[in-house]
Amino acid sequence: MLVLAIESSCDDTAVALYGGGGVVAERRHSQTLLHAPHGGVVPELASRDHARRLLTLVDTLLAETETDPSALGLVAYTRGPGLVGALLTGAALAHGLAYGWRKTLLGVHHIEGHLVSAFLDPPGSLPAHCPFLGLVVSGGHSLLVHVHGLGRYEVLGATRDDAAGEAFDKVAQLLGLGYPGGPAVSRLAESGRPGRVVFPRPLLHAADYALSFSGLKTAVRRWLETRSEIAAEDRADAALAFEEAVVDVLVAKTRRAWRSRRLDRVVLVGGVSANRRLRATLARAAETDGVSLHVPPPQLSTDNAAMIAALASLRCNDARRPSESAHPWARARWPLVELGPPALRGLRAA
Ligand code: KG4
Ligand code: ZN
Repeated sequence: MLVLAIESSCDDTAVALYGGGGVVAERRHSQTLLHAPHGGVVPELASRDHARRLLTLVDTLLAETETDPSALGLVAYTRGPGLVGALLTGAALAHGLAYGWRKTLLGVHHIEGHLVSAFLDPPGSLPAHCPFLGLVVSGGHSLLVHVHGLGRYEVLGATRDDAAGEAFDKVAQLLGLGYPGGPAVSRLAESGRPGRVVFPRPLLHAADYALSFSGLKTAVRRWLETRSEIAAEDRADAALAFEEAVVDVLVAKTRRAWRSRRLDRVVLVGGVSANRRLRATLARAAETDGVSLHVPPPQLSTDNAAMIAALASLRCNDARRPSESAHPWARARWPLVELGPPALRGLRAA
């Protein structure tokens, strides 16, 4: 079944086609330059820009792949969680297209999409990889999930305040770096001198899997405030100390989770998975413990529509005619645990 999907939950506008052989094509527009002067995503600007670009992206995708809408089996979109205005632009377009083309429609969960993104190829291979542990770390989310099966999630822990990527972005601002902050902090950290500065590891020794990064950001701010003059090397030392603290906590908690849950597979997804120290440290821990680590390629790790389309194809039996859908179009907050397995009705193949 050929699925057209729309992703507009935050600052990436993306559309994709996914079918029997995997990802057919994707077109996307990143809003990074739009938000850069503000040091973070401005929700109103994000919504307006999605609204401006989405239909053109769909048109381009269909034209360049010579796809006639009649070939589509399903229209899918990200229903949540995310910025509600941004979500609504994708939801409205998906409803309109499905209505006009007389297709069924499915709004899916963004985090479930990230979890599925590690196993897009071959299509439908996710269930064969379950159970596994998912570490989702992006600008909006940081959570550890025990994935028992598609739609069967146990959230072991999540951030109590800032997401890991958000902390990178805020620390980048404190250090006078650009947006997005993750890559900038990480680059600066490369020239940092190990051991010169040490920041606390929030909740490292707590018995549960909860995460917290806002206190760490405050520790960086305080450290900067107590110095009258800060040389470039000092900034690099602080960047390194911050990155080490984030990575230490994430890896320690993830490792504890796979050990206590006796899981031998871990999936790292979300924009922060691009962080080299995190990938390398997690890979070392996984290798030592005999756990296999799956990290999707960068184009699937950050927000994308291919994962939304792939997820919708796994859940195609949940799709409805747009007029039959009784759900709210978008959900800014949507706990992962509210999901259930896909309907078995008809057992349609993806
Ligand atoms: O998943 P994503 O593209 O968008 C959402 O937030 O949903 O993640 C973006 C986040 C940003 O906060 C960015 O600073 C962070 O991922 N990021 C990184 C790196 N590359 C991107 N954080 C740390 N190290 C990186 N190399
Ligand atoms: Zn995301």
